[in-house]
Amino acid sequence: MKKNSITSVLTFTIFILLALAPYISYCAENDTIKDGNKLYTPPQSPQPRVNGPLVYGCRPGNPFLYRIPCQGLRPIRFSAKGLPAELRLDPATGIITGTAPKRGEYNVLIQAVNSKGKSKRHFKIVAGEKLALTPPMGWNHWYAHYDRITDKMMREAADIMISSGMADVGYQYVNIDDCWMNAPENSDPMRVGPLRNEKGNIIPNHHFPDMKRLTDYIHSRGLKAGIYTSPGPLTCGGFAGAYHHEEQDAHQFATWGFDFLKYDWCSYGQIAGKDTSIEAYQKPYRQMGNILKSLDRDIVFNLCQYGMGDVWKWGAKVEGNCWRTSGDLGFELDRIYDVAIRNSEFRQYSKPGEWDDPDYIQIGWIGNANKMGIPELTPMPASMQYAYMSLWSLMAAPLIYSGDMSKLDEFTLNVLCNPEVIEVNQDPLGECGLVIKLTGDCFLMVKNLVDGSKAIGLFNRSKTTTEVAVNWTDLKLSGKQTVRDLWRQKELGIYQNKFSTQVPAQGVVMIKLSNR
Ligand code: GLA
Repeated sequence: MKKNSITSVLTFTIFILLALAPYISYCAENDTIKDGNKLYTPPQSPQPRVNGPLVYGCRPGNPFLYRIPCQGLRPIRFSAKGLPAELRLDPATGIITGTAPKRGEYNVLIQAVNSKGKSKRHFKIVAGEKLALTPPMGWNHWYAHYDRITDKMMREAADIMISSGMADVGYQYVNIDDCWMNAPENSDPMRVGPLRNEKGNIIPNHHFPDMKRLTDYIHSRGLKAGIYTSPGPLTCGGFAGAYHHEEQDAHQFATWGFDFLKYDWCSYGQIAGKDTSIEAYQKPYRQMGNILKSLDRDIVFNLCQYGMGDVWKWGAKVEGNCWRTSGDLGFELDRIYDVAIRNSEFRQYSKPGEWDDPDYIQIGWIGNANKMGIPELTPMPASMQYAYMSLWSLMAAPLIYSGDMSKLDEFTLNVLCNPEVIEVNQDPLGECGLVIKLTGDCFLMVKNLVDGSKAIGLFNRSKTTTEVAVNWTDLKLSGKQTVRDLWRQKELGIYQNKFSTQVPAQGVVMIKLSNR
């Protein structure tokens, strides 16, 4: 009887273990299961926390608009010391408007107060030639809505940028991509029509009834608006491009009130023909760069020509503020590590106002790029999504989210909205991190920050949790260093000679080293 019951308990236990074996080994192999339940970014405090860049470029005499990114319980009362006389701050919304002051640097001290406390932050306005002194942050419709984009969706994206808290950590641009114009032919009759009016002015399609009212709406929220075209006769989607109308279209964009232009090579290939000289690659961008610079509006210039002719070497010379270093990341989302490592090879060209752009952040609900699909939840493991955001932050890449804003969930916002990680991206030095290869599938990405500290990503590309170490000698450091976990926003302690930690499968631990 006793023997029988021991046998049956043993049999039962073995049965349960066998049944659970695949799950147990899967959990051990795949930390994403565990990570999926774990949000790295801690919950926001109700106290105010002013975020956003420490430096901000604008051109003297042009319209000025800046919404102070600030987390914390509303209502918040904003004030600013040292604001140039041409600018005024709305204390209730934190939106600064006016005309950019004369050439110079203006040191402003922003203060935010609510019932729980207060927060201060230095903000230097640099009125001069350069825009985008820190990498542009915002949203672009492409990987969510493709040729389905409408005015309504753009407004909704602006609303959600505010209501989700994205704007409170620095997201600012609400950018239309392709398909807002008319096309000679398209499956959607609302997008087919004359490309230009009798004066040659470009005509938006029926989904965009009034561009000026759209940008007014975006601006009224304190955000900025972006638009897209191609130097070729048609865009990549087959819609009207700017060829032979460059000056006219640029003026139109400025009159409509746009603040950002993505200029996408597309059918310009037919114009350039077989000429693959650097001059041929530069020609359309130099032309548009010069036009934009002559306008009385600050328009950030985003070059999109997939890296041809080593664009990183000359993008700034044609007045570009950022340039795509490769093809569409939507087609190779399984290769984000390789794309990032390659992008970081051009790190010497990354500096304030001049950014290498490895394409958008595609997490949350995104449409399959191969099918221009309806948004679906990304299959990317949770740990890899944190790694993706860490890589882009360490590389000082433009942080442009391109997923469905109406479906933003807690996890996706947790990845997108960690102010300490974003601060690394927005660091005024503008350095792109250096990759240090370690053994196996691990590597470090090291970025020097303006305060003398270093941000470091410890990356593990393998499918198992792995111990990864940072040795001070590899960083030309010595002695004691304070280590802070940036995702968890937590001091880990003081370390001598090295820091070592378990890094989840396909994931990251991101730290800051400082010797204070
Ligand atoms: C190209 C660009 C994409 C997107 C599409 C729009 O493929 O690289 O980012 O703008 O065109 O058609």
